[in-house]
This record gives sequence, structure tokens and C-alpha cells, in this order.
Amino acid sequence: MIMAKLTTNQGVPIGDNQNSRTAGQNGPTLLEDYQLLEKLAHFDRERVPERVVHARGAGAHGVFKLTNSMKRYTKAAFLQNEGQETPVFARFSTVIHGTHSPETLRDPRGFAVKFYTEEGNYDFVGNNLPVFFIRDAMKFPDMVHSLKPDPRTNFQDPDRYWDFMSLTPESTNMMVHLFTDEGIPANYRQMRGSSVHAYKWINSFGNTVYVKLRWVPKQGVKNLSGTEASAIQAKDFNHASRDLYESIERGDYPEWDLYVQVLDPADMDRFDYNPLDSTKDWFEEDIPYQLVGTMSLNRNPDNIFAETESVGFNPGVLVPGIEPSEDKMLQGRLFSYSDTQRHRIGPNYLQLPINCPFAQVNNNQRDGAMPFKQQTGRINYEPNRYQDTPKEDPAYRDVPQPVQGVISREKIDKPNDFGQAGEVFRKYTPEVKAQLIGNLANDLANVAEQTKLLAICNFYRADEELGKRLAEALQVDLAPFLSRMS
Ligand code: HEM
Repeated sequence: MIMAKLTTNQGVPIGDNQNSRTAGQNGPTLLEDYQLLEKLAHFDRERVPERVVHARGAGAHGVFKLTNSMKRYTKAAFLQNEGQETPVFARFSTVIHGTHSPETLRDPRGFAVKFYTEEGNYDFVGNNLPVFFIRDAMKFPDMVHSLKPDPRTNFQDPDRYWDFMSLTPESTNMMVHLFTDEGIPANYRQMRGSSVHAYKWINSFGNTVYVKLRWVPKQGVKNLSGTEASAIQAKDFNHASRDLYESIERGDYPEWDLYVQVLDPADMDRFDYNPLDSTKDWFEEDIPYQLVGTMSLNRNPDNIFAETESVGFNPGVLVPGIEPSEDKMLQGRLFSYSDTQRHRIGPNYLQLPINCPFAQVNNNQRDGAMPFKQQTGRINYEPNRYQDTPKEDPAYRDVPQPVQGVISREKIDKPNDFGQAGEVFRKYTPEVKAQLIGNLANDLANVAEQTKLLAICNFYRADEELGKRLAEALQVDLAPFLSRMS
């Protein structure tokens, strides 16, 4: 076997990788030691900024196999023929804390899947829980600031996020989910995934439906109680990444079934809430799940930095046949992801192998930092008179979509901030209700009285039993507030 020579990044062979070049045996070190300077300078730049949210994550490669053709609803090429397979890369994450934070915290979990389809990449960028805290992108940076560590102490403070949430009543539904044990999934293999937002699917006749997508783990759903989470965290703060990695290494490939819920635009007014509100779930009883296909994750990354860290998802990365809905949260997200990725990874981040489509890329975008897959050719403009340059294809023109209204800044119709939170609570078993009230009381015990009262009132508005039991657990007398509310 020929042993590879150790070289500098310029390919120059290295004779001694142990000792700096010095004046005399004891030094000082010489500035002319290019090999040392380059080695340190490159090391100094090993980190790129971590994701501003969802920094802690684990990923894996796999395949998505279509079980039922979705031709009736969408012309998306990867959803046409039963049995069709599409390569995927999935990344699961916690949201609030940094890259090496524990994986046992109460926090939504990110569930992102990049489909490398024949008509370009399609990104699913969802969460484990079916609803979100807020319904307008305008509020996202404030929401995240309230949940992130206090800028003075550098630790998360319930008083800060309950202050924000109690003044943001639409968050009540999310809190009713997050403070059950589903707020701490046992691992990444045994959690659900949800698009949260509705998207539009458009078929080859130009007909549009609204859809929400759900991933259901074939491994079953498993969550942790606060006590179980603490016990795991004391021993291992990487348990979810480890679980995913080890299960794939031993050939026990995790699988999720993908389901779609389909809503006819004519039925949008059928509910007591706005179906494009990301603080609302579409209940299965109202809109049934239809099986689409199954994802199996079967290969660990070779290099976490190059794959799991450098992957860039964006809910706006869609393929023909899939369009964003008018959901105001989703609309803000369409901008935010590729913007942060140009900052976090660089303007040519799409040329990295993990992000690069398997489909061919032909266009006139050029240059920028590190364009290592430079598109060549003299004719880098369009239109042009040359037949052998990339041309637009009218078959992919937008399907016109109706829109109406005046330009304004307004809350949506039918905000119904508390209705669904109450319905969800009433469906819980007595054990889950007790879990929720116990977890909420533990957290709210440490917040200012004014915030505590406001939070209890929000839960009371969702469900009388929930509000009363929470007040009791926190030893708060609700009577003066109830008289004001009535
Ligand atoms: C990651 C912004 C709401 C799911 C991110 C990142 C940003 C961001 C900037 C980091 C991306 C990167 O560095 O590559 C926003 C904004 C939101 C929003 C502005 C609201 C307006 C949501 C919602 C969901 C979600 C509602 C779930 C439905 C995710 C996931 C990731 C992520 C899964 C991690 C993707 C990965 O693994 O790389 N978000 N987000 N986000 N977000 Fe959001």
C-alpha cells in the first residue's frame, strides 16, 4: 500500500508536523513558518456561525418511497408513480439552545427533510408539534428573544418567555401541547413531524387544494417525563443524536409514513378558525389523513460539518405542483432561511454537495465567494440568439391564483385564540391533563405574579377546568379576576 504524503493545503509535502520552525532550539518561532501559520489560521476559522435557531441537530440520508400516487392533487414529479423512490436527507433538531446543548429539554423539535427530486430540490421544514406559538412572522424575532437565554445572565428565564407568551394569547394552543410530555420527545426516531402550515398542491389541470403534511413514526411515539429527562441528562446530553446514529449503524433503519390532509379551497370558511393560521391544527376527525409514502433513513453522514451542519433547508424550496399558502408565518419564513444561509454558509451554499440538487442546474448566476461549481460559457445572459443555451419552458409557468383585499396591517379573521386549546385539553386522558398542569405549574411558579395571572387567565379562557386546576396548583385566588372577566 502506498502511504499518502502529508501535505500543506497547497499540496507541498510536509517533512515535520511536530515542531515549529524556530530560531535556535528554544525559539522564538519564525514568521516564515508558512506551514504553522496556515495550520493555525485555518483552525481559527473552523467554525461558521451556528444556526440562530435549531442549532443542535442530527441528520441522516435515506429514501422516500411513494405508496399512493398524488397525481389527483399535484403535478409534483416525485409524487406521481407508485413505488417511485426519491433520495432524501433529514435533519432533526431542538430549537432554542446552542450546538452542544442537551437533547432532553422541553422545546419543540425540528423535523426537516430535503427531497432530491428529478425536478429539483423540495424541502419539508416542519416541527414535531402540529401548531406554532404565533401566526405572524413579524413576531418571530421577539418570540425567539424571549425564549433564548437572558442577555445579561446567559440562561433561559421562564419569567421572560411567559411575559411574551401571556401577552400573546394565540400561543395558548402551543403551550397546551408543549407542556405535556410531547414537549420532550424520547428521541428523534419516535417523534411525529408536521408541516404546521398549509401549502397549496396544484395538479396538471391547474386545480388547487390546500394541504398539510404529517410524518408518523413506524417506531411509535415515545416521550419523556421531566424526571426521566433529568435522569438521562445527568448521564448523556447527546442521547437523541446517539440513538439515531446507533440505530442506523446497526441496520435498524427508522421509518416514517407521510400523510396528507387535503382541503378544498371552497371549504375554507367551514371552520370556526382560519385554516391558514399556524396556531391551529387540522383535526383528523375534520380532515382525514391519506397515506402518501414512507421515508426510511439508512445512512449516517460521513462528516457532520459537511452534511448535518452545512445543509440548508427552506420552506420556500418547492417544486412545480407545490406552492406556499397565504399563511403569514410561512410567508416570512420563505425569506428568512436562504437569507440566513447566505450569511451562515456563504452565497454559494447551494453548490455544496449536501445542498446541490441531483437535478441539473443551468442558469446565468455567476461568481461570488467560492463558486467551485462555476457555470462556464460566454453567453451568460438571456434572452440570446443561441439555441444551445438554457431556455425557459412555458410548461412550468405559474398557475394564476386568485387574491383579493386591500393592502393593510391587520390581524386575520377568526383568530379564535383559545377554542382549539380547550378542545385539545378536553381530549387528553386524565393522566395527560395531570401531566400538563404539573409541568405548567412548575414552570409558572417562578414568574412574576402579574404574568402568572395573565397566563392562568389565558388557560382559563381555553378551558375552565384547566384554568381552575392550574390556579389551584399555583395557589392563586382566581375569584377577583373571574368577576372582572364575566
Ligand atoms: C431553522 C427562521 C418558524 C422549523 C430556522 C432558521 C431560521 C428560521 C433563520 C435557521 C436556518 C439555518 O440556519 O439554516 C424562522 C422564522 C420563522 C420560523 C423567521 C417564522 C416566521 C418556523 C416554524 C417551523 C420552523 C413555524 C416549523 C413548522 C424550522 C426547522 C429549522 C428551522 C425544522 C431547522 C432546519 C435545519 O435542520 O437546518 N428557522 N423559522 N421554523 N426552522 Fe424556522
